Amino acid sequence: MVSWWRRLREDFAVVFERDPAAKSRLEVFFCYPGLHALWGHRLAHGLWRRGLRFVARLVSHTMRFLSGVEIHPGARIGRRVFIDHGAGVVIGETAEIGDDCVLYQGVTLGGVSLEKGKRHPTIEDHVVLGAGAKVLGPITIRHGARVGANSVVIADVPAGATVVGIPAREVRRRDPAEAERITLHHERISDPVAMALGDIVARLEALERERRSGADPREEST
Ligand SMILES: CC(C)(COP(=O)(O)OP(=O)(O)OC[C@H]1O[C@@H](n2cnc3c(N)ncnc32)[C@H](O)[C@@H]1OP(=O)(O)O)[C@@H](O)C(=O)NCCC(=O)NCCS
Repeated sequence: MVSWWRRLREDFAVVFERDPAAKSRLEVFFCYPGLHALWGHRLAHGLWRRGLRFVARLVSHTMRFLSGVEIHPGARIGRRVFIDHGAGVVIGETAEIGDDCVLYQGVTLGGVSLEKGKRHPTIEDHVVLGAGAKVLGPITIRHGARVGANSVVIADVPAGATVVGIPAREVRRRDPAEAERITLHHERISDPVAMALGDIVARLEALERERRSGADPREEST
């Protein structure tokens, strides 16, 4: 059993580790709604497990109101989880999240059936769920996997895999141990407009070079 003090220290440490924008403990304490939501969830989940279902729902509802993050009190969430920005995150009743995961704003861990049993996803350790990712049904996102922003995942994702798109498809696979090193290379997402502009600029430069060297660019371009 980990003491609440140790968990609190972990909560702060994880924000500084994963968010380059975090400047001070004071700022983290007051200005990180994802953290507030997780603190509220610990209380709500404790009440839920003791059978105080209505009070638990009331706590979770209040935290939703305050933080913009909706976590059902029945959901199970591991240690050092970081919910960045928070807004619009929804985590269903039978969802399970392992340790060291990162969830960005707009992530949904939702169900696709009205059955009472397990109907929400299981997220194993060291998983990154990009902004707006929807993970639906009782599927498993395995150790160290990454889900691209705005993807919709409806099937299991293997350990270390990166999946993107709707429905999400695997585009990359790492060794899960390597995948544990979370990076935020947003700048590496392909930008089709920038790529098209780059092609046009390269073509113009080629034409300019040809003009200077006296060759007729129209002959080269055919
Ligand atoms: C998916 C992600 C985690 C990167 O994982 P990765 O394993 O390092 O994958 P890569 O960056 O190598 O991308 C692999 C391919 O998927 C593409 N890709 C990445 N994210 C994508 C997305 N959300 N949608 C569509 N394609 C995407 C990349 O362009 C790349 O394509 P290419 O191989 O044709 O060049 C990252 O792109 C991402 O979406 N992170 C979430 C960040 C976020 O939500 N930030 C919010 C901050 S407010």
